[in-house]
Amino acid sequence: DWTTGNVIDEQIAAIRELVGDRRAICGLSGGVDSAVAAALVQKAIGSQLTCVYVDHGLMRKGETEQVEKDFVAATGVQLKVVDAEERFLTALKGVSDPEEKRKIIGREFIRVFEQAQAEIIADEGPAVEFLVQGTLYPDVVESGGGTGTANIKSHHNVGGLPEDLEFKLIEPLRKLFKDEVRMVGQELGLPEEIVQRQPFPGPGLGIRIVGEVTKERLDLLRDADAIAREELTAAGLDREIWQCPVVLLADVRSVGVQGDGRTYGHPIVLRPVSSEDAMTADWSRLPYDVLAKISTRITNEVRDVNRVVVDVTSKPPGTIEWE
Ligand code: XMP
Repeated sequence: DWTTGNVIDEQIAAIRELVGDRRAICGLSGGVDSAVAAALVQKAIGSQLTCVYVDHGLMRKGETEQVEKDFVAATGVQLKVVDAEERFLTALKGVSDPEEKRKIIGREFIRVFEQAQAEIIADEGPAVEFLVQGTLYPDVVESGGGTGTANIKSHHNVGGLPEDLEFKLIEPLRKLFKDEVRMVGQELGLPEEIVQRQPFPGPGLGIRIVGEVTKERLDLLRDADAIAREELTAAGLDREIWQCPVVLLADVRSVGVQGDGRTYGHPIVLRPVSSEDAMTADWSRLPYDVLAKISTRITNEVRDVNRVVVDVTSKPPGTIEWE
């Protein structure tokens, strides 16, 4: 019968048998699925696994550190971090179109990941033949249920699947639903912040800045987002809310008055939604006092932001993300 302990034991035995004395690679995105898949494979084959984390500079406050420090401390995994912030920012320079941004981020991601992969393969050691993927049961169903093939919607590709796949896939979560994956992660001793993390898009904050993506705007959005997350967590709303994108309208300015003068700053949009599967969503009726606190703090603490607005659109017609 189903227990997380059984799932873990079965998978560990199967992975050991499959990999033998060869090596595997796993891309970490900062999300739950890749983290749990990596932790499970690490438990099975230890240092025969190398994880790769591409830091594209589009993560939220503290997230890269969570992977670099907390995840490594909890699992003992061998991790290669590639600092690619400059490269991504350069590639995104002057680009405002959402699809263009997505394409650039996806393309750069795969290039950087493949480069890291090549370096690992070139290292001394046994053949690298396996790629670990955090594919879940709903992903399998959605992509037609094929066995072991890399037929994953382009959405997920940002997680690091190279186009010309030369690896055999290890997908230890293929039979699990999200809540089961969280339970397995918990059993494996992963940090709460990783196991309970809400969905976050692969292109990161790059698609939460309406307008050109710059380092300055990213820093500003990171500050506003951290405040919103802190207050939602403090209010005990994390489980109730599916996710709450925080969006910077960098191309919009409005007049305000702060301190003893007129300001001409940017609005921040809060987009809290409730959902079962992200296919449809409703806007969350957040308590007014929580909204008030977030608004006051963001306008007081984040430079160049003089207005906070709430998105009250369901999906459809609005998507969850703004881009
Ligand atoms: P939308 O905006 O389409 O988002 O309503 C639905 C869900 O998908 C997430 N999302 C992404 N996740 N790569 C991802 O891994 C992406 O490119 C991407 N775009 C949107 C979004 O956060 C929401 O949970």
